[in-house]
Amino acid sequence: MQRSVRLKSFELVARDINDVDVDLLHALSISVRWPHRPKDWDLLRRAGHGIVAVDGIGRVFGSAMWFPQGDDFATIGLVITTPRAQAQGGGRWLMDQVLEQCGDRNLALNATHAAYPLYVSLGFTNEAIVYMRQGEIPQKLPPMPAPDGELSDLPSGRLREITELDARAFGTNRARLLALLSEDASIATLSRGGEVVGYSMCREFGRGHVIGPTIARNDQDAVHLTAVHLKKLAGRFARVDTREKDGVFAEFLQQSGLGIAETVTTMSKGRRFLNRESNGPWVYGLASHAWS
Ligand SMILES: CC(C)(COP(=O)(O)OP(=O)(O)OC[C@H]1O[C@@H](n2cnc3c(N)ncnc32)[C@H](O)[C@@H]1OP(=O)(O)O)[C@@H](O)C(=O)NCCC(=O)NCCS
Repeated sequence: MQRSVRLKSFELVARDINDVDVDLLHALSISVRWPHRPKDWDLLRRAGHGIVAVDGIGRVFGSAMWFPQGDDFATIGLVITTPRAQAQGGGRWLMDQVLEQCGDRNLALNATHAAYPLYVSLGFTNEAIVYMRQGEIPQKLPPMPAPDGELSDLPSGRLREITELDARAFGTNRARLLALLSEDASIATLSRGGEVVGYSMCREFGRGHVIGPTIARNDQDAVHLTAVHLKKLAGRFARVDTREKDGVFAEFLQQSGLGIAETVTTMSKGRRFLNRESNGPWVYGLASHAWS
């Protein structure tokens, strides 16, 4: 008896991401060791569009999503092919379809090391490094000076108070995404002289909680807007994705148990994505890799 067999190769077809069971998407992200829960996939599907690569009996071998943000911009994420199907052209095939769906929108994404060569070949260029910081939060946070301003909770019904600030920092009005995120997030604001100068959201994601978006005018404000959530997460797992390499904010995260677990590269195609205004509000914490 022959001890090896060559199986027939099979064809994958593209289907809308809403047409498959969420458990299949969950299994796909587990196959590449990503922490997304079925609930996280549900939110992603509500926030954007996507396709999956499905075989003849409905198994999911790959995915790619895009998220319209405003009229002329979109972010891309959840580009995955299951390890058994990698390096056979599936990732490029999924991306080609997503790019076609995005039309002439300006684009941004956060590339893992594995996907970087693919995005370069598709015309994306580098803008920044994102540090994915995560870990268990200690009982006591490092000492910090008193906040310059007043920290408060923002009920989700008052999102309008932060939308314009967010758009200045992010570069595009993403009110629809913020409304979705706020359904299950706690939101903190920092005000000075009656004006909201920063905000942060904290929500459950993956293995624990993610803090972001965090929008602030300076490192100290970002520290307070992050600490306000971390204080409630002592002994639990949290994550912050930030483009701050060093400085007061990065050091505070490091001392708060949030070490660098991985880096990804922010890339864009079309208009430049990251445009920091001096003394203006800035994205200190990302909403997620997929939403940049
Ligand atoms: C990144 C990923 C989607 C690529 O999918 P894939 O099906 O292997 O992609 P393809 O076979 O179409 O290959 C695309 C290009 O990337 C290159 N490539 C694929 N995997 C690579 C790897 N691990 N390291 C370096 N280059 C790689 C290929 O050589 C190919 O280039 P070519 O067409 O010029 O030969 C897949 O590796 C993956 O799911 N990784 C884990 C999750 C992840 O990191 N996703 C990206 C999120 S931004």
